Amino acid sequence: MKQGTFVVLASGRGSNFQAIIDRVKEGFIHARCVCLITDNPDAYAITRANKAGIPHEVVSYKSFSDKIRYEEALMEVIARYNPDLIILAGYMRLLGDRIVDTYHGKMINIHPSLLPAFAGLHAQQQALDYGTKVAGCTVHFVTRDMDAGPVIIQRTVLVLDDDDEESLSSRILIEEHQAYPDAVRLFFEHRLRIEGRRVRILP
Ligand code: GAR
Repeated sequence: MKQGTFVVLASGRGSNFQAIIDRVKEGFIHARCVCLITDNPDAYAITRANKAGIPHEVVSYKSFSDKIRYEEALMEVIARYNPDLIILAGYMRLLGDRIVDTYHGKMINIHPSLLPAFAGLHAQQQALDYGTKVAGCTVHFVTRDMDAGPVIIQRTVLVLDDDDEESLSSRILIEEHQAYPDAVRLFFEHRLRIEGRRVRILP
């Protein structure tokens, strides 16, 4: 059977990207990363791609006059690689309806909260501000509404009394690095079935 392929979209550090390609290398995920795409020419994720011998493309938002043109260019680049899956890993832009609809069921994202709580930016700080005792991360399919698609995997961490944004974020990140490769593996094993809002994980 043909090996599955994916592209990763990342805007910065790229530690989730790294966690996923590490698991590919170990044979845990049976698929190939064909490209890293970033909107940020200074993203550390580019260094990670270079080290791993993965091609990268920069589609910089600033090079385009508006969001529509930016997304057209982004879609062109993605289409060139014809991936089975698009993985958003710390990609800090909201994608428009056209691209989201085109890749319905084939685009996933990770968010550092237990959705539907604390969508959007600074999710970990939002959890602290609210005073929750449990926080975590969510891997979900991407739909038109921000951070609102069907949930694939969630992992939890306990919030400690002396946590600040940095300490809580770093413990959540450890769980992200487990959850995201797990979800990608399930996708390529064809074990994820979207049923309305729910994602059934097939045995
Ligand atoms: C991760 O914590 C990810 O969950 C978050 O950005 C970080 C990226 O880290 N994503 C979002 O907040 C998306 N709304 P990384 O670049 O090291 O993977």
